[in-house]
Amino acid sequence: MRLFIDTANVNEIREAASWGVLDGVTTNPSLVAREGRSYRALIEEICRLVPGPVSAEVLATDAEGMEREGRELAAIAENVVIKLPITPEGVKTCARFADEGIATNLTLCFSTAQALLVAKAGASYVSPFVGRLDDVGQDGMELVREIVQVYGNYEFPTQVLVASVRHPQHVVQAALAGADVATVPFKILQQLFHHPLTDIGLERFLADYRAATAGH
Ligand code: E4P
Repeated sequence: MRLFIDTANVNEIREAASWGVLDGVTTNPSLVAREGRSYRALIEEICRLVPGPVSAEVLATDAEGMEREGRELAAIAENVVIKLPITPEGVKTCARFADEGIATNLTLCFSTAQALLVAKAGASYVSPFVGRLDDVGQDGMELVREIVQVYGNYEFPTQVLVASVRHPQHVVQAALAGADVATVPFKILQQLFHHPLTDIGLERFLADYRAATAGH
């Protein structure tokens, strides 16, 4: 499973990239707004930092506007993936881009029916939002499992990108479900490293070594 970082903060992206485990980046308008920078300049910088796919979302809600914005974003760098909402206009734009080989990430997926539609439209990625489903009392991971099964049944090439990740167990469950990608906030990427027994074990190794070599 590939690991993307879910942020528009270049310091977080730089740090995660330095660990050697980062495959790509997803952004959304809320994350971009937090940075207080020009949208285009920010996406340009992120694409220079990470060679893998970088999802950048359109702001328009009509197909014509989505197509125009999508083309502008796609022109920034070869690794830009156009993020489109799952609405009739977004799916229509997705199908048009698929015909031209422009990569897309269909976002705000909350049902298997939506995932089926976007696969038929030729989406490169579908983004089920597991955390937001959990928040309203539905099992977000069950949606991921259903999508993985449906795509497997028909050999759809659309990749399942697990989004709205809230804790390390979401990442593990995404991998167990056979998702292609999990996009993970920086704080949760950091949490993936931690286990108390690793810290205790390391402390003991070093203490043993220091004790045995003291005075040598
Ligand atoms: C995905 O691409 C979105 O940016 C993101 O995962 C949304 O997560 P949230 O529900 O934590 O805002």
